[in-house]
Amino acid sequence: MDSIQIHGGVALQGKVRIQGSKNAALPILAGTLLTKETSYIRNCPKISDVYGMINLLKSLGCHVSWEESGIRVNAKDICKGEMQGEAITGMRSSLCLLGALLGRCGEVVMEYPGGCVIGERPIDLHLSALSKMGVVFTEEQGFIRAAAKQLNGAHIKLPMASVGATENIILAAVTAQGDTLLEGAAREPEVAALCRFLNCCGAVIEGIGSSRLRVKGNRTLHGGDFTVPADRIVAGTYLFAAVATGGSVLLEEAPYSQMEAVLHVAERMGAQCIAAREGVYVQAAKRPGAIPCLRTAPYPGFPTDLQSMALVALTTAKGQCRIEETIFENRFRVVEPLRKMGADIQICDAHSVIVKGVERLHGKAVEAKELRGGAALVLAGLMAEGESVVSDCKYIYRGYENICKDLRELGARIVSV
Ligand code: UD1
Repeated sequence: MDSIQIHGGVALQGKVRIQGSKNAALPILAGTLLTKETSYIRNCPKISDVYGMINLLKSLGCHVSWEESGIRVNAKDICKGEMQGEAITGMRSSLCLLGALLGRCGEVVMEYPGGCVIGERPIDLHLSALSKMGVVFTEEQGFIRAAAKQLNGAHIKLPMASVGATENIILAAVTAQGDTLLEGAAREPEVAALCRFLNCCGAVIEGIGSSRLRVKGNRTLHGGDFTVPADRIVAGTYLFAAVATGGSVLLEEAPYSQMEAVLHVAERMGAQCIAAREGVYVQAAKRPGAIPCLRTAPYPGFPTDLQSMALVALTTAKGQCRIEETIFENRFRVVEPLRKMGADIQICDAHSVIVKGVERLHGKAVEAKELRGGAALVLAGLMAEGESVVSDCKYIYRGYENICKDLRELGARIVSV
């Protein structure tokens, strides 16, 4: 079941429920390490990254069980912060266990974390911020050893709004001695969700949703019962699937208020997006309109994780668009397979491309190379004339619970094979 087969050309119609957010669930699961009591995390998506995180928590000695509507975690018995193997090297977000484990055990040994191949993805901001809090890092043969005699609150200014570094600092700060003031924090809704979870466990984090967070230290956390919010990136993926195919869909539970920049782009491409009681309703134009320029940016800007999907929708737009990727290099790996399908895309440099709309794409066999780019190729298959097969879909399943079933509910002719 590593490939997805699509017969394109159907305008998507109907409604689909949006799964819980991957990027919120992962750091929240890491946050359950900070208490000896049981936490219950509802609406976690059933995706391979979450299974990977569960395995990591178990390997640390946590009791974890997936129940009807959520994951129950108890970390009372964790003994040592040692992490290695595929779950850590294959998943960048395993990095957020660093802050949580330092908060809980004071020492961590971990293999260098991996994740999607979208740029170099350094971790210098994580390391320098945690060093300011008293952590000493040493590196030996692909392993990072982090130890703190005592974690101290600090005044930290991030030069770049890194989501992962912000989360690590918060996780380390709640149990540190003294308060932490974090300036230049990432404002992504997933960071806010982590803060709300920690506050429901007894942490005191102020300024949630802003770039200036104040975390009170010396807290002893208790267990929490928390519901992971809907995934704005999955919602955006299906939104662009509707835009790309000229469809009309209801994205149930889609977080309208977190999708302003995305909805604005869809509207400029001719779609009507309406906040409904059940979620977000999208009525797309028959053929997408072009926009002169699309630029990714940290939240509340247009998310880098939806850049490939917007690019795909623009391949058949009436006109041309320059796309600028400002967050990660190496995020245009979909260009080559899209060209194979008939798209007219010119690479200007590592950070920008020009897409000239063509009449239609043609179905082809293409390969997913990373999570979001892989999902974007599925969208290209939905638009294309004839049959497409996207192979190596393990990347897609890292973030999408059931992309084929979801799209079938919207009328797409798509199966995993
Ligand atoms: C998170 C998301 C990912 C999303 C990204 C940007 C999770 C699990 N992943 O990734 O889906 O695409 O935010 O919204 O939540 N940087 C450094 N040094 C560092 C850390 C980051 O230079 O130590 C740079 C990165 O190379 C990148 C930028 O900062 O250019 C933003 O990266 P960051 O926000 O940290 O991304 P992640 O947390 O890895």
